[in-house]
Amino acid sequence: MTATSGLPARGRFITFEGGEGGGKSTQSRRLAQALGAAGVAVVETREPGGSARAELIRAFILSGQAKPMGAATETFLFNAARYDHIATRIAPALVAGQWVLCDRFADSTRVYQAVAGGADEALVRGLERLVVGPARPDLTIILDLPAAVGLARAGARRGGGESPDRFEAESVATHERIRAGFLAIAREEPERCVVIAADRDPDIVADDVRRVVRDRLGAAI
Ligand code: TYD
Repeated sequence: MTATSGLPARGRFITFEGGEGGGKSTQSRRLAQALGAAGVAVVETREPGGSARAELIRAFILSGQAKPMGAATETFLFNAARYDHIATRIAPALVAGQWVLCDRFADSTRVYQAVAGGADEALVRGLERLVVGPARPDLTIILDLPAAVGLARAGARRGGGESPDRFEAESVATHERIRAGFLAIAREEPERCVVIAADRDPDIVADDVRRVVRDRLGAAI
């Protein structure tokens, strides 16, 4: 029985999580290519966003305009975006037998809003149960690296001109708490989560990701 067994689903749901600059989108892309080459139908998506309406909420949150409303309201907004994303993209793809790869999902809310932002843990967990329901990931890959390294990478990727977004602008100490928060989730749910060291050559990280997906989900990659 898979974690998505509450849906009449046959596809698998894989999420990539971790702090800033860990290469989640690169690794998601590379896994999608490997699965595609093995004949698996794959949908690549991301959060916040992933559907047209959720992308509108993403722009509002990342602009920083929601920050003064507080961590609880940000939690509601991430969940509103997630509700639409699941309903319009993730669940239909899983039901159609496709594999869904998502760059960030509900663990990011647990960590950024509750651990780092101070939103009430019961609120965050309760909303997750209501909003995610049976669309829980089958596998979560946590790309782990020291916060300072990840922030430097994210800054280099952004280039000199653009300013950091709402969450990149937080302190290194906050980003270390974020790192610890993801590692705590991996300890709490080892059947779902795998931690992969991300401060290494992306080719080596991609090999590890493929091995985990092969071992845990039986993909022929
Ligand atoms: P994004 O540009 O996608 O960052 P990254 O490349 O690090 O994934 O911006 C997403 C930001 O939103 C990121 O800083 C993490 C934050 N976030 C939350 O705070 N809560 C959430 O539930 C999600 C999905 C993301």
